[in-house]
This record gives sequence, structure tokens and C-alpha cells, in this order.
Amino acid sequence: LSVIARAANAGGDGKEPEAPAVPLLVAYGSQSGTAEALSKNVRKFAATSGFQPEVKQLNDVEPAELAGFGHVLLLCSTFGEGDPPDNALKFFDKLMADDAPRLEGLHFSVLGLGDSSYAQFNQSGRDLDARLEALGASRAAEAVLCDVAYEDDFDAWKQSVFASEPFAAAGVGTSQAPVDRGDEAVERYTKSTPFPATLLEVRGLSGPNSKKEVNHVEISLAGSGLDYAVGDALGVWPVNCSEHVSELLAAGGFSGREVVTLKDGPLPLRAALLSKLDVCVVTPKTLEVLNIAAEMSEIEGMHVVDLLERFQPDADAQQLAEALRPLQPRLYSISSSPKAHPGEVHLTVGAVRYETHSRARKGVASTFLADRCGCGAQVGVYLQKSAHFHLPAPEVPLIMCGPGTGIAPFRAFLEERAAAEASGKNWLFFGDQHEADDYLYRDELEAFAAAGVLDRVDLAWSRDGSEKVYVQHLMERAGAELFAWFEEGAAFYICGDASRMAKDVDAALHRVVAEHGGLSEEQAAAYVEKLKGEGRYQRDVY
Ligand code: 2AM
Repeated sequence: LSVIARAANAGGDGKEPEAPAVPLLVAYGSQSGTAEALSKNVRKFAATSGFQPEVKQLNDVEPAELAGFGHVLLLCSTFGEGDPPDNALKFFDKLMADDAPRLEGLHFSVLGLGDSSYAQFNQSGRDLDARLEALGASRAAEAVLCDVAYEDDFDAWKQSVFASEPFAAAGVGTSQAPVDRGDEAVERYTKSTPFPATLLEVRGLSGPNSKKEVNHVEISLAGSGLDYAVGDALGVWPVNCSEHVSELLAAGGFSGREVVTLKDGPLPLRAALLSKLDVCVVTPKTLEVLNIAAEMSEIEGMHVVDLLERFQPDADAQQLAEALRPLQPRLYSISSSPKAHPGEVHLTVGAVRYETHSRARKGVASTFLADRCGCGAQVGVYLQKSAHFHLPAPEVPLIMCGPGTGIAPFRAFLEERAAAEASGKNWLFFGDQHEADDYLYRDELEAFAAAGVLDRVDLAWSRDGSEKVYVQHLMERAGAELFAWFEEGAAFYICGDASRMAKDVDAALHRVVAEHGGLSEEQAAAYVEKLKGEGRYQRDVY
């Protein structure tokens, strides 16, 4: 381990003896990239505080090496039904195992990233925190479990960590930790300071008989200097639906002109509900602040408006504002290549519309783009660089599995490979309910095939025949060729639904490798692990 000089001490006379920097491991489990971005922010801060920080994803960490660092910070999100992110799963297995090493002498603190509308709120962060303590490590600062608006809690956690006894004693005194937002400072436009982009076009991609409503959205980045790569995501700040806000006001007996005070100052309740607060999601805090004696399980599927109607809480406007979470941007996988569309970014957005408790609901950002924006409208956007979803080298054969709106990043990959005249072969698995109505980007994909960019397309239409055909069925049918591509060095990418599709595709991949590689279940699992380790199995799932 190389040793760098400890940063100049507060004395400032330049004659302080140089002390060696203290090793610090900043380890993250990140699905969408937030925990990774925050880890880099911690690294920057720690490096000026007398530490020699190293940032790693949790899967690259062995539990046995933790104690050697002495100081470890863990930043981990929770995903799906309380699961750790992909790049932390292996680490969790090892840490939770009976033979995990003892960790006496280790000082740690955990930052969890989660969503309080889920029952398993911050499960990964809580598990890490409890397990490290059980293994004998000592908690330098209490774990902080963030909700979707994580910025202030992250700052508070960072302050408390570096002011804690074990960290302050090791570092150079950091009670004045500068407040520095989590987004990478290199980006001019961030989550908290988005670029006011102009919407160029919203075009329906679904046919008239489709059960889905998927839109192609084109946004101008002219003048922003924003520079994205295929595989990145775009954050979009929505505005709530004005009729929904009116309904909510009526249900609570408010005019909307009541003045409420939020973090940035006072404003009328109606304005706060339109663009500052999440008017749908009910969390345990909503119940608490509105003084509603109900369990979360009793109000399943209810939105705030249903709650107000059903329980008629005696709350004033300020209480209502405090009962709601801050409105958050939504992240969409970018579906364009900057080489093919300079100065623009494209998204492929499924409009979310459904019904619960006999009320029509709509997804905030997806219907904001579909219904409430219009061409020429301004939309606040920022880039979220992908932690782990990148196009491989130009010569690497590429297998893409993206049913439904999961096609988004693969349209971008194909555009990029076409523009760069990349030599690698390309194979796409796509599918949806009906060929006639749900074949997204059909013309473009057919043109790629005609031009020889797309070497093979396998299409799974789940509701055209008497039996459901899904992408994983086609993968198994084409198992021999698929395995041959892997043996030639191909990389496999999945995008789309995490809870069912990505799991089933993963299982199919294991079966293909076992059958066509003549491998046992364990050997097939090791083969797939090796693909992952080599960056040849990447997922963008949600
Ligand atoms: P379905 O709606 O007929 O069930 C895109 O949403 C496509 O993914 C649809 O054709 C959908 O089929 C299909 N799909 C649903 N569940 C899936 C699963 N577990 N694996 C693969 N595809 C699935």
C-alpha cells in the first residue's frame, strides 16, 4: 500500500510533521448508480481529511480484507423486494455465511439508499449494519437509511461519520465537512440543478389495438454541453397532473391558496403539490403526520387522495405538505446514440396508467411526457452515468435481450455500432404481446437488419399464438448458436422488467450453458459467473 502525506493540518505553518494517511475503504452496492456516485463524493472528501480512500463495488471486496482497512464506509441501495443490488449480491452471501471472518477492530458506518413506500425499506443497509456489528466490528456512526430524496441525509451522515471519534482521531479534524451534493461535480447539470431542455417530439410507438402506450420522446440538449454515452440514463423532473392536484385539494378541504413552507421557502399549497411534492405515494410518515391510525398493509394500493377521503384527517395545509415526500425525478434508459443524433437525447417511455380503489391512476413522469408537456415545452433533465452498462469493444459479438421498453438502450447500442461501423456481430431478442401493435421501432430494426448491422433478430409475441412465447423460450430454442456466440467471446445484455423477465432469462441462460456446454449445474453457474466477472453479462433492469 503506498502512503501519501496527510493533508496539511489546521496550524497552517507548513511545519507540521507529515503523518501517513489512514486507509479507508468506501464500498458500494449500486443498481442505478446513486450509491456509486455518493461513494466517489465520499472519496473526494476523505482524501482531503487525512485518509487514503479506496472505492470498490461490494462484489470486489472479500469480507476477510475489511479488517485490514480499519475504517470502512458502506453505501448500499435496496432493490426489488428487499434485495441487494447485483454488484453486492456475492458480497452479501459471503458476509452472511456461517464462516464469515470476525471483524474486531474495524470501524464502520452504513448509508442505506431506499424507498419508504416499500415494506422492505432499506433492508440491505439494515442487514449490513446488523451483520457487521454481529461480527464484532464497531459502529463509528449510526447507520443513516435514506429515502428517495437522499441528499440532506447523505450530507448529515457524512458529517457524523467524519466527526465521529474513530474517524476524527484518524483523520485531520473534519467537524466542518463541506456540504457537497452527491452528483459528480464534473457535471454542470445535476439532479438538483437540472438543464432546462426543450422537448422536440413525442410520438406514439404502439399500434391502435395495443394494451400498452409506449412513446418515443426526443429532447434537445443544445446549449447544455451534456455529453452522454450509450448505456447512460436521463433523469427527468416531472410536474404533477393538475386534475389530480385539484382532486387532492378537494378531498382534504383545501383551496390551494394556503401558504406552506418547504425547504426552499414559502409557496401556495397548489404550487407545492404541482411541482414539489409526491402527491401519490403513501409512506409510514404520511400516516404518522396525518395522525391516521392504520397499518400500511390495510391501505395497500391507496394514494394520498384515497387516504384523505377515507380517513378525513384533521390536518392543516402545512401538515399535508409535511406528510408528503418531495417529488423526485425519474430515470429513463437513453434510447439514442449521440453519434446518430448529435445534440439530442431520445427516450422510450411506457405511459403508466392503471386503476386502483376505483380510481384512474397515472405514472407521474411517463404521463407528464405523454400528456402534459407538448413540443417546445421545457423539461428539467440531467444525466445519470451508468455504473455498469456499457457497450463492449467494437469487435465483441453482442447479444441483447430487451422485450417491451427494454429495447431502449439497444436501439442506442445499434445506432452507436452503425455510426462507428463497429465490426462485432449483433443479435437481438425482442418481444411483446402482439406483433401488429407492439413491435417497437419495427422500421428501424428492419433497416438495421437490411443494412447488415443486426445479424439476427428473434421475436417473441406472447399473445399472438395459443401459447405464450417469451424471449427466454427463443433463447433456449437457439441455445446451440447462443452458446457458440459465448464461446466466440460474445457479451450478453438484458434490459427490462427485473422481477420476472430478467430472472427467467437468467435461468434460461444457465440452462443453455449447461446443455450446450455439456456442463453440470454448478459448472454452468461458474461459467455465467465468469461472464459477469469479465463484464460480458450486464443488466439494466428495474
Ligand atoms: P405478457 O404480457 O403476455 O405476459 C413485454 O412486456 C413482454 O414481456 C410481453 O410480451 C410480456 O408478456 C412479456 N413477459 C411477461 N412476463 C415475462 C417473463 N417472466 N419473462 C419474459 N417475458 C415476459
